[in-house]
Amino acid sequence: MFPTNVFYPTRPNGLRMREELLAFVGKRGTLLEPEAVEYLLAQQDPMVPLERFLASRQDLPLVVTLQDVLQAVDLARKAAAHARPTAPATAVAAAAPMALAPASFHGHAERASDHSPDVKILRDITGRSTCEGTLEDFTRYFRHRFTTLSRMLRSRRELGGAQEIAKARRSTREVRFIGMVADVRNTKNGHRILDLEDETDRISALLLADSPLAGETVVSDEVLGIVGTVNDRGLVIAQSLVRPDIPVARPFRGTSEHIRAAFVSDIHVGSNTFLDEKWAKLTAWMASDDEVARSLRYLVVSGDVVDGIGVYPRQDEDLAIDDIYGQYEDLAKKMAALPDHVTVVMIPGNHDAVRPAEPQPALPQPIQKLFDSNLIFAGNPSLVSLHGVKVLAYHGRSMDDFVSSIPGMNYHRPIDAMKEMLKMRHLAPIYGGKTPIAPEAEDHLIVEEVPDIFVTGHVHAVGVDAYRGVVLVNSSTWQAQTPYQKMRNIEPMAARMPIVDLATGQAVIKEF
Ligand SMILES: [Fe+2]
Repeated sequence: MFPTNVFYPTRPNGLRMREELLAFVGKRGTLLEPEAVEYLLAQQDPMVPLERFLASRQDLPLVVTLQDVLQAVDLARKAAAHARPTAPATAVAAAAPMALAPASFHGHAERASDHSPDVKILRDITGRSTCEGTLEDFTRYFRHRFTTLSRMLRSRRELGGAQEIAKARRSTREVRFIGMVADVRNTKNGHRILDLEDETDRISALLLADSPLAGETVVSDEVLGIVGTVNDRGLVIAQSLVRPDIPVARPFRGTSEHIRAAFVSDIHVGSNTFLDEKWAKLTAWMASDDEVARSLRYLVVSGDVVDGIGVYPRQDEDLAIDDIYGQYEDLAKKMAALPDHVTVVMIPGNHDAVRPAEPQPALPQPIQKLFDSNLIFAGNPSLVSLHGVKVLAYHGRSMDDFVSSIPGMNYHRPIDAMKEMLKMRHLAPIYGGKTPIAPEAEDHLIVEEVPDIFVTGHVHAVGVDAYRGVVLVNSSTWQAQTPYQKMRNIEPMAARMPIVDLATGQAVIKEF
């Protein structure tokens, strides 16, 4: 069985797990009530509810009680179940038709140093967080998710005239409706039943095992549309399933100059398996006379820039630098050694020194001050314009949830999960798994605007591809296999750097 989180060390049950739980909270200056320990030990993965609680609080109590943990687990689920989203508003415009503009990667290249940086952070949470984690916050959050995604769905031809679920339930003809997935389950005969909710009611839809819908990926808390017929027991037999998706492929809107952007993530500075020599090679290559190196205008760093402290139990055994500032100072030196013509845009990941709940704000000021002026800090996720090319950067923690809930998905093929995110128009649709989500007033994990480039990290693999005109990039790691990964036969694809030509969207992977 593939582990639910590659980057966590083994979590055995029993005594050792108990010790690890206590050590984990102890590092954060708090204690666990005995009842809370018992509850957590009875869970499939005891760390998940605990992390969810820790993520939900800015100030930790002296003792974390069972009540605290249960509240954190239940709050959002209740809110999702009781949320009554408001009616959708106007439709969004369909994307422009496809027009490919391929060109040779080694075509005309320009010197990045001839072009001053042009970076705009179009959207991130930094400085805009308002949530306190109350039940009302969760209700508002899920309502925003439903309203925004159902507005996208209503613009789809297949869902023209979509009804509210309360009306669809009473229909005896073909029905079309939009709902948030409250539950997905399999029947004994291999069919699947989806429970869907909107502001008016709840309904069950059957995906027959012998229909084309059998292969469709459906996850809880995503918002989708169903076309089908209602049988005499009020069950919808689904004929088709409609996702917000990127309805029409679009051309890559590139720059007029052949400048390039490179992508790294999961540097894990401070880890004792950080790949010093490989990083030195990367630094030397960037400053070299190589035509591609000279044309690099941007470096996008998609989170887990340092290994962090206390991110998982017994992490101290895997650290070369056991001080969080020390880790960022070391990274700052590495960044300062990169050539001046490369402007760095950096977002955090789950190992970084910001709140773990997504959306994460940019690294805090005291850490930013360690770096020179060549760095621009943004939140996770962020929509960033680089010379007018829109890059959606997301660390990718939700891939843990995609891998554990979707049969056939795995950590070696992150691009598959990225395509699902674009089809669902949501970076982390599954609530209540490994990805802690802060209930902000707006759902920042919705892919509102279709980017030109979509980049993730987190899984320590590497890949480039395209989906309906969007260039997909998963950037690899600069950390060698950890003892835990070795035990599980997980081979990270380290020290490979995707590079995208911002004029054409063409991508290559450079290995160091
Ligand atoms: Fe990560």
